[in-house]
Amino acid sequence: MVPTTFPDDAPPRSGSLCSRRAFVLAMTALGGAHAAPAVPDAGGLNGSLQVLHWWTSLSERRAAEVLAAGAHRSGMRWIDAAVPGGAGIGAGKVLRSRVLSGDTPDVTQLIGTALQDWADAGLLLQLDSVAAAGKWSQSLLPTVFRHVEYRGHVIAAPIGLHRVNLMFSNRRVLAEAGVQPASSWEQWSAQAEVLRRRGISPLALSSEAWQVTTLFESLLLGTGGADLYAALLVRHEPAAAADARLTEALRRLRVIKSWHVGKVTERNWTETLAAMKEGRAASTITGDWAKGELQGAGWQLGAEFDCQAAPDTESTHLYSIDTLAMLTKDYAKSPLQERLAALLVTPALQAEYNRTKGSVPVFARLDAASLDACARESWQLFSRGDGVQVPSLTHRMATDEAIKEVLMVELHRYFIDDAIAAQTVQRRLGSMFKILRRPGDGARRAGAALPWAAPG
Ligand code: GAL
Repeated sequence: MVPTTFPDDAPPRSGSLCSRRAFVLAMTALGGAHAAPAVPDAGGLNGSLQVLHWWTSLSERRAAEVLAAGAHRSGMRWIDAAVPGGAGIGAGKVLRSRVLSGDTPDVTQLIGTALQDWADAGLLLQLDSVAAAGKWSQSLLPTVFRHVEYRGHVIAAPIGLHRVNLMFSNRRVLAEAGVQPASSWEQWSAQAEVLRRRGISPLALSSEAWQVTTLFESLLLGTGGADLYAALLVRHEPAAAADARLTEALRRLRVIKSWHVGKVTERNWTETLAAMKEGRAASTITGDWAKGELQGAGWQLGAEFDCQAAPDTESTHLYSIDTLAMLTKDYAKSPLQERLAALLVTPALQAEYNRTKGSVPVFARLDAASLDACARESWQLFSRGDGVQVPSLTHRMATDEAIKEVLMVELHRYFIDDAIAAQTVQRRLGSMFKILRRPGDGARRAGAALPWAAPG
């Protein structure tokens, strides 16, 4: 049924697989996804590509429109199929159901180890000739190139690099309370009460699972450093689950929850960000997609808001790489898909796209002066190489989907239920690692470098 990964191995398939009805039904069932052209129908274009992604906030939509307009200028029509849901939780489900019903989109946002799963299933178009022509192996940041290379083939076009361990703060709120953005846990704890007395939550929170675990990644990094982070979330070492620094990271998650003024509800990331923007919370810890959203709303870095590393994580770059993959069908669109992939990895388009999105281009060389201070620090730090780079769990950079899901469920349960002790979570993780861990875990980490892999 399914075509193989690489067009030269696969028999051509005939007939259109497009069923708009199946798509609409699948998305209606999942609640409100929509498919609308990002650019108006334009005569004279020599082909269309339907692109599934989860960029639905204001700045994300604008960023997608930058790509759509670039495609349009190059004679391709980008048909937008956006599925709401931060971190791609909804988009992943829609993608699976569409492929199963024979309504495969042409292009899809797929990130991290999910790329390898889809390549293993034989569904991704190899982009080797595009990558060779564009000299991706030399022009991309080395970790980014390793990230899109799998079993000797290039399987996706990388478009942007996000830093996840960032704290964004409302400058007015901090100034009125007479405090600085906290760079350490001690400093932060000391000022939390000052903010609370003013009726302000020190940190904007949501109980949505992916937002909880995105925050937890920064707390773990702050208490245990990159070594404990890797032992736990990349290599899944049972001993790491028992580490006292993990107990402390879990404790801090609870403490931050107790700081929150009013009940923590489940809200999407733009609503969490709005709590900071509107001054109900002083800060938010999340990826720099939040910066894109603030700037898109007219906020200026250094004027209305600050961007800095999450407390105690200044020397590390917790990363997520955004990628678009080309899905195989009957290969009729391969030339067009290859043209889009080539276009996506060009400096001018990436500069505009990433400025809008809050992320940074994936090139090893670029004009750092053209970036804002937050982006510049992200790119310069990441460029220093493997010692500082830490793959995000939540955003699929650290481990495979199954283990990620299990970890997220445990951490989420702990966050919402105050009766669960940190030690209970640790015991459960330790037992799970003993069962789930495989020799070589970590080798499949997106962009894996050898020190991260568990001994075989
Ligand atoms: C990440 C994705 C970003 C951003 C964020 C919030 O997984 O890489 O591009 O969209 O989720 O949805």
